[in-house]
Amino acid sequence: MESIYAKKDSGWVNHYAGIHYGARFLQTKWNKFVPAENFKFVENLLSIASVDQACSNKRALDLGCCVGGVTFNLAAKFDEVIGIDINKDFIELCDELKKNGKATIYSCEEGDLETEMMAEIPDSIDRGRCSFILGDVLALPSDIGTFGCLVVSNLLHCIKNPITVLKTIPSLLDDNGICVIASPHYSSENFTPKENWIGGYFTQDGKTVTSSQTIKKVLSDEMEVICTVDIPFTLQYRGRVCELAVAEVQVWKKLPKVI
Ligand SMILES: C[S@@+](CC[C@H](N)C(=O)[O-])C[C@H]1O[C@@H](n2cnc3c(N)ncnc32)[C@H](O)[C@@H]1O
Repeated sequence: MESIYAKKDSGWVNHYAGIHYGARFLQTKWNKFVPAENFKFVENLLSIASVDQACSNKRALDLGCCVGGVTFNLAAKFDEVIGIDINKDFIELCDELKKNGKATIYSCEEGDLETEMMAEIPDSIDRGRCSFILGDVLALPSDIGTFGCLVVSNLLHCIKNPITVLKTIPSLLDDNGICVIASPHYSSENFTPKENWIGGYFTQDGKTVTSSQTIKKVLSDEMEVICTVDIPFTLQYRGRVCELAVAEVQVWKKLPKVI
């Protein structure tokens, strides 16, 4: 089963560009009904923990970086940031933003009618610290190295084998490295074959299993949870249609090995 994100569709580029870069255009539009907070996912995600202070390794990795908003923001705190995504269109937009610091994105109003917006990376961010890889998080380059911070944002629910990514997390981090995992815990066969779901099902003896529990079960041998918070994000599909989701965000720290 191919990820739906691997298909060419400018709609998805613009929906995600809206989340990552569209706040200043979108947050005022429906603020009578939708709180401005719901359009600040990227900044809220990175403001919840001191992701750069626990570990001396100043490299960061953004798995499933999409259109790069989190990757660029990480460059404010890390010397080297790698974003990796399976979608060519997303990575092309990341590369354009890296090169020019801005790019035109569109918000669909109705049918073929679109509003032009400008995605911009603030001058204070050194874009040269970021690099983007078109690739599969389930087959990371063998020489990718280790990191002081790993972001796994809204990825686990839309890949074929989320447990593989979860199990890889500790090996990608140095001691005291931080991992930020965000997920709306969606569990749908549109993305993940049911036998690979990490939550949203009953065991044979009738117990419920949630993705939140599974993440904790897999990581807690080598890592400790620092905090858990809920962060909303809004996908603007059309001028008058948007979808609100609330990601559970767990922040983890890798425990130093006891010798
Ligand atoms: C729901 S979007 C979230 C993106 C972003 N991290 C965020 O929080 O806004 C999921 C992203 O994961 C990417 N993705 C899905 N499967 C992938 C895979 N196997 N390897 C790399 N990226 C993948 C998609 O292309 C998409 O950009």
